[in-house]
Order: sequence, then C-alpha cells, then structure tokens
Amino acid sequence: MGVSRGGFSSRIGFIMAAAGSAVGLGNIWGFPTQTASNGGAAFVLVYLVLAFCLAYPAFMAELLIGRYGQANAVTSLQKMSHKLWQKRFAFIVGFGGIICAALILSFYGILAGWMMSYAIEPLAKLMGFNEVAQWLVDQSLIRNLAFTAFFMLLTIFIIRRGVEEGIEKWSKRLMPMLIALLILLIIYVVTLDGALEGLNAYLNPDFSRVLEPDLLISALGQAFFSLSLGTSVMVIYGSYISKKEDLVSLGAQVTLIDVSIAFLAGLLIIPAMYVAQAQGVAIFAEDGSLISGSSLVFTVLPSLFDGMGAVGLFVGFGFFVLMTIAALTSSISMLEGPVSYAVERHDIERTKATTFIGLGILALSVIIVLNIEFMLDLVAIISTQYGQPIIAMLCSIFVGWIWHRNSLLAEIKQGHENIENTLFWKIWPWYVKYICPTAIAIVFLHSL
Ligand code: TRP
Repeated sequence: MGVSRGGFSSRIGFIMAAAGSAVGLGNIWGFPTQTASNGGAAFVLVYLVLAFCLAYPAFMAELLIGRYGQANAVTSLQKMSHKLWQKRFAFIVGFGGIICAALILSFYGILAGWMMSYAIEPLAKLMGFNEVAQWLVDQSLIRNLAFTAFFMLLTIFIIRRGVEEGIEKWSKRLMPMLIALLILLIIYVVTLDGALEGLNAYLNPDFSRVLEPDLLISALGQAFFSLSLGTSVMVIYGSYISKKEDLVSLGAQVTLIDVSIAFLAGLLIIPAMYVAQAQGVAIFAEDGSLISGSSLVFTVLPSLFDGMGAVGLFVGFGFFVLMTIAALTSSISMLEGPVSYAVERHDIERTKATTFIGLGILALSVIIVLNIEFMLDLVAIISTQYGQPIIAMLCSIFVGWIWHRNSLLAEIKQGHENIENTLFWKIWPWYVKYICPTAIAIVFLHSL
C-alpha cells in the first residue's frame, strides 16, 4: 500500500489543498450570515478566539493522526490502538467520520449547485436569454437536480485523478483565483454608498453579547465546520504530507488562511448588505435583526447586483463564481474521505471507487432534493451539529488517552527538531488531553 499511495508533492500543495477544504461555503456564506444574525462584531471576536484556542488544537490532532498512520482514518486510528476494544473504538470514530463526510457532501452539493446556477444567470442575461436566466434563479425540482448532479460530476472528475493530479493541482489553480476574486469584490463594494455603516456594524463589538450561550455555540460550530473537523478529511490530508515537513507550522498556516478568508468574506458581505440598504433593499427582518441565511445570499445580494445595472452582472457573476470555487475545493475533500477508505481497505481501484461512491452520494442528494423541505435541514443538523463535534471530541480523546505518549511526541518531532523549545510542545499534548474534549463536551451539552 505504502508505495502506491499518493501524496502532496510540496508544502504549498498541501497548504492549498487543506486550505481549499477549509475555505468553503462555511467561510463565505456561513460566517458572514452567522455574524449578521449574532450581533456583528461580538460574534467575530468569539469566533477568532474559539478558532485558535479550540479548533486549531483539534485540527492538529487530526493531522497528526493521519501523518502517523499514513492511511485513511480507520487504519490510522487502529495503528495507535493496542487492545481489541481500542481497535473497535477506532473503527467507530474513523468510520463515523467517513459517514459524516458523505452526509455533509450530500447536502453541500445541493447548495453548491445553487451557487453554480446563480453564477450562470448573469451570463444568460448578458446573452439575452431572459427566460433561461429566470429559470436558473427560480427554485424548481429540475433545476436543483440538474445542478446538484453537475456539481457532483465535477467533484468526481477531480477526485478520480488522485491526490497530486486531482486535489493538489486543482486546489493550486482554484485557491489563488478565489483569493483574487474576493479581494477585487471587497475593493469594489467598499467604495459604494452605505459601505461604511456596514464596516462599523462588522468591526465594532457589543461586548455585552460576547458570553451569550447561543452565540458561543454558533461560533464553535462554525469554527469546527470551517476547519472540516470530525469527518476524517483532515486525517487523510495529514496522511498525504511527508514526514519531513513541519506539521505544526503547516497546520497553523492553514488555520490562519481559513480564518482570514472568513474575516475577508465578512468584509465583503456585511458592507454589501448596507450598500443594498442604501439602495432601498430591506436588510432587516421584522424582529429588527439583520436578514441572514439563504435569503441573504439569494435575495439581498442579487437585488444589490440588480441595482448596479450592467456592472452588477459582472459583480454577480464574480460573486457566485467565487462561491462555486470555494465549494468545489471543499467538496473534493469530502469525497476523498470515503474514497481513500474504499481504496485502502477494500482494494478497490481509485477511479471505480470514486465513481461508485460519488454516484451513491448523489443518489442521497436526489432523495434530499425530492424532500427538500424537511430533509435538507435535518441532514445538515445531524452531520454538522452532532456528528462533527462528537467525532472531533473522540479524536482528541484518542490522541490524548489512547495513543502512547512517546509515540505521539515522536510524531510531533518529525520535521521539527527544535520543537521542544516551543509553546506547542509544552502545552498542546496536555491541552488536547484535557481541555479539548471537555470544552467541546460542555459547548455541545449546552446546545442540547
Ligand atoms: N470547511 C468547509 C467550509 O467551510 C466545509 C467542508 C469541507 C467540510 N470539507 C469538509 C465540512 C469536511 C465538514 C467536513 O465550507
């Protein structure tokens, strides 16, 4: 197995791929939306603290598991286990993560399909196909099915090519495009009337809200979703990194990119809402809170683009292409979790495994689309609010309590000889053992 396994060919390849997984609809849609519905800057502050203090340590646990095991989540966790019950526990945690990734992909593909159809709409308008344009932005069964399938086929196409030729190559192409588009859009929006008021709402915290339980839970969930934790994905990406690399700093860089892009997305979306307001679009719901969720992305922003006239077509196109790219570099990571498992544990050829699993997940998406009213939220809640935190917590327990300490320390040392002088070495092993599981459990129980 060792020889035929793929791997990232360079540091930058890993950074782009892992950041590609992390940066997704969660950053560009979820984060600004949550910020809007949780009182603006107070949420941003809490999110930053939780992302660095809880999500980053948990992220490191998953990367280290994978790099130690050099295999999919189940095999890697089993390599650390010595007793039979530990091996069984390893299976539950690893396989649970893989199922969670598949479930997330099944609803994520639907949302990504919407992004694609909204990206094509301005092109249809530009070419004068107004009816097609209207069809693209109206909720309909056919449109949802067509675009979900289209998006899933793209994901399958990339994953079939493997780690280096698929994941790494496409992440390296798409991530710079994403960052450039995001910055261009921010520069444009910030110059419009009303943007300053938006910046103020985004950056001026109301400290009295910082400890509200709802806000804490949303911020934690958002941080875990954003780093793709608890789904076996970061374990498998960790397993594709060479032992020569300094994993601790790579992990920190990916976290930094992820958090920065979420922050930048807020800098785009919140001011854009206030610009829309200056143009007469309603941005507050009846209870006085900022409009959030899907109406923000699919109503408020499109009205803003419409109000801009011809420029709006290009801005709208740029925005939804941005969303689509972000979704694609994430969806490939979700598919890689189950595919690597099938390839390594059941000796199925990669292309076959990818097609088979990808189509299986698409079938699940179709079921969701057919029952969209109640299934979309249900699957999202089960996988992201329950699945991810529980599995991420079990991974920290695994690293803290089951993995032999000496072997854990030896793995941290790989690629970083002087690590013993760092804060990470002194604090993290203890932190991941006690603080991570406890804090995740507290926040989780609180949310029940
Ligand atoms: N992190 C991505 C986002 O913010 C979503 C994502 C990608 C994901 N891969 C994942 C979430 C695996 C959970 C599991 O949109």
